[in-house]
Amino acid sequence: MSGVEQAEISHQRRMDHMYRYQRHVYDLTRKYYLFGRDTLIRDLNAGAGCSVLEVGCGTGRNLALIGTCFPRARLFGLDISAEMLASAAAKLSRRGRTPAMLRVADATSFEPRLFGEPGFDRIVISYSLSMIPDWQGAIDAAIAALNPGGSLHIADFGQQERLPASFRRLLRSWLTRFHVTPRESLFEALAERARCNGAQLERRAIGRGYAWLAVYHRPSAAASARANPAAALLEDRGAAAIPA
Ligand SMILES: C[S@@+](CC[C@H](N)C(=O)[O-])C[C@H]1O[C@@H](n2cnc3c(N)ncnc32)[C@H](O)[C@@H]1O
Repeated sequence: MSGVEQAEISHQRRMDHMYRYQRHVYDLTRKYYLFGRDTLIRDLNAGAGCSVLEVGCGTGRNLALIGTCFPRARLFGLDISAEMLASAAAKLSRRGRTPAMLRVADATSFEPRLFGEPGFDRIVISYSLSMIPDWQGAIDAAIAALNPGGSLHIADFGQQERLPASFRRLLRSWLTRFHVTPRESLFEALAERARCNGAQLERRAIGRGYAWLAVYHRPSAAASARANPAAALLEDRGAAAIPA
């Protein structure tokens, strides 16, 4: 087994261990400090047939709300913790809820075909990047799984940049107990990828930097073709069909 695989398994065990009992009080307790999730969901604008994947979906709290706000969207969720997914499965199978396809998977290495999809129109990562050791790998996997014209929506802890230093210190030491590390370079990492891929990026801080929100918009196929007609031709015909 490779070192990377070993690290993935030990992270998976850590998550399952942490959430085995916490999952029963998760929704109740987290509503007081995971801010920005409802704003993220409102902005999804997921119409009929739109495929929405949540990476690190936990108890399915967000997927349930997405189903309520956008009842004609198709819902998918993945999480590394089978314990969390047990709660999500119970919640999303209740009467009146939009059903969701759920899979145990690692955010850094999943592929859309795990769900039988070519890609997703919306991908949500809410308060999970701060718990994923290779969080930049998770961003790359999500970007790779976006359909043309699709968008990646992120909410997570910010740097509390406009809050008192004493509050920041207290929050940080408390979050560490839950294996949470706010990603200081989150916006830079997204901006770099947007620049390289010709994507649009929206970003903002809420609650004086308590939480950060970002939306990464992958260009549509038509926009990509306008920006780089040669690359679009290659994509259309397959690289081998184009003489060097
Ligand atoms: C703080 S919870 C957030 C749950 C939900 N997204 C929300 O907003 O309430 C973080 C979730 O990320 C999951 N997670 C952590 N590392 C992961 C990984 N490498 N791949 C997939 N899920 C992961 C955890 O199991 C947990 O369910």
